[in-house]
Amino acid sequence: MALPTSVKLFEMAPRDGLQNEPGEIVPTATKIALIERLANTGLAHIEAVSFVSPKWVPQMGDAAEVMTGIHRRPGVVYSALTPNLKGLENALSAGVEEVAVFGAASETFSQKNINCSIAESLARFEPVLERANDAGVRVRGYVSCVLGCPYEGEIAPQKVAEVAKALYAMGCYEISLGDTIGVGTPLAAKRMIEATRQQVPIEFLAAHFHDTYGMAMANLYAVLEEGVSVIDAATAGLGGCPYAQGASGNVATEDVLYLLAGLGIDTGVDLQAVIDTGYWITGELGRKPSSKVALAKGRVSF
Ligand code: HMG
Ligand code: MG
Repeated sequence: MALPTSVKLFEMAPRDGLQNEPGEIVPTATKIALIERLANTGLAHIEAVSFVSPKWVPQMGDAAEVMTGIHRRPGVVYSALTPNLKGLENALSAGVEEVAVFGAASETFSQKNINCSIAESLARFEPVLERANDAGVRVRGYVSCVLGCPYEGEIAPQKVAEVAKALYAMGCYEISLGDTIGVGTPLAAKRMIEATRQQVPIEFLAAHFHDTYGMAMANLYAVLEEGVSVIDAATAGLGGCPYAQGASGNVATEDVLYLLAGLGIDTGVDLQAVIDTGYWITGELGRKPSSKVALAKGRVSF
């Protein structure tokens, strides 16, 4: 199958990137500055915050302040995770224009992450979709653990397809498939996409890969070959899920941009500006980007 001619990037650093940051709560002003810098790089879809329980994810406790504090750049969509109606109402009050519900292909992970079964989560998302629809807000859907679960191990592609189908049928405009703990390999990624595309058209599927085992780039190339044209990535490779022990960062936006540029695939994003933003935010966090491209370009110019 031919590679896509253009790819939509969904930037995860402010939400998936910072939600798992250990230690001090990242200051609200830093979160706002990160989102604004990212929006200046050409990234047009930024997952900015999550409206979840601050007891569960303290780093996202200032979601409303962040959302109301950013200067919104026209043409950029700033979205938020909302696990339930309470989260959605808080998001709407903060003027959020797009939200996401997040389910899983693993029962145990669903319990650990959102404290309910897969079936209960889907039932909980229905009124979120209805209310969001009434408010004119688009809803994205996530399926976690699509290539493995920290508690259950292997996950059947059929299970991923089933949950993706339910989210799509409910009205999610796009389904993001999360290798939450980054254990996938390219053939498994292809098989998972092949099963899922039987239920949801390929143009509505996104790849959300974490890089724990260094396989994210290979997995992305594999699913690009399957026709996937939406990629979630986090600048500087920030990220991880607090309810998936050992999960490391998302694939780095810098690395994805380098890959796509090499393949001649258009994104409209300025790689150097993303590299600069990655160095800035990791400087604020007291470390270096985990992006190989950022590290290489930081040392040599070519
Ligand atoms: P629960 O304890 O079952 O909720 O948690 P509850 O409805 O029984 O409420 C308990 C308390 O939480 C109440 O407060 C509620 O008001 C409050 P209290 O009366 O005790 O003071 N509450 C809320 N507060 C703020 N915002 C809300 C909210 N809802 C209830 N929306 C719940 C259920 C879903 C809330 C909880 O489990 C939770 O917040 N989980 C979030 C976990 C999370 O954010 N995980 C990371 C994101 S998912 C991810 O990273 C994966 C992804 O990147 C894809 C991939 O990589 O695979 C997307
Ligand atoms: Mg994630």
